[in-house]
Amino acid sequence: MLPVCDAPSLQCARCLPGVAPLLSPWLAAYRASLTAAVAVHHGNPRLVEQRSDLAGGYFTSDAKARIDLDVLHRFLSEESTWARGRSRAIVEKSLERSLAIGLYAPDGSMAGFARAVTDFATSARLCDVFVLRAHRGQGLSIGLVRATLDHPSLATVVAWTLTTEDMHILYAKFGFAPLVDPSKTMAWRRVSAG
Ligand SMILES: CC(C)(COP(=O)(O)OP(=O)(O)OC[C@H]1O[C@@H](n2cnc3c(N)ncnc32)[C@H](O)[C@@H]1OP(=O)(O)O)[C@@H](O)C(=O)NCCC(=O)NCCS
Repeated sequence: MLPVCDAPSLQCARCLPGVAPLLSPWLAAYRASLTAAVAVHHGNPRLVEQRSDLAGGYFTSDAKARIDLDVLHRFLSEESTWARGRSRAIVEKSLERSLAIGLYAPDGSMAGFARAVTDFATSARLCDVFVLRAHRGQGLSIGLVRATLDHPSLATVVAWTLTTEDMHILYAKFGFAPLVDPSKTMAWRRVSAG
């Protein structure tokens, strides 16, 4: 056994060789429990999801495992005015680091979607908001946007932005307003991207 200090520490170069082997079974068990937790998360979104119930049995959920990628990609690439032609790979990648809120019909099928691009600390941009045609006109977009703005992971986010062609009236219900001084905001678009 290598010499260790009175209060062994993994941060001490003298202790490390002696203490690390003692900890390795515990570390292995901890790693296994983390792997199991992640597997449960991916396999059963109900265990960890943030869900809000809406009228008529509809509900919103932040569980990415529930998202129907075919429906999401089809709407964005074929029906939306802002993401025409967006590839499936880019749609998938956009989900990875965003807060993605799905809107679901009572049978669990996807009825809409909203996404917040965010650092989860200070700012967020609301985008890709839609309700599928068959489910429109029931106030569902209100519940969808509300679930996104009020998501607990964004509780400290104070600065929200969005871009809209013609749905100002919807977002105004939540307090969104045109920029007070547009000259202080700048934008740039990459001419060609995937
Ligand atoms: C915009 C959209 C999300 C609204 O979804 P919805 O669930 O049908 O909307 P709701 O029933 O919740 O209506 C909420 C409010 O939005 C506004 N609104 C909804 N549809 C509208 C329309 N076609 N024209 C003008 N205002 C509309 C209304 O102010 C309405 O409130 P009111 O009923 O009290 O007047 C849906 O029409 C959609 O997905 N459109 C295509 C994608 C799109 O434009 N997304 C927004 C990108 S910024």
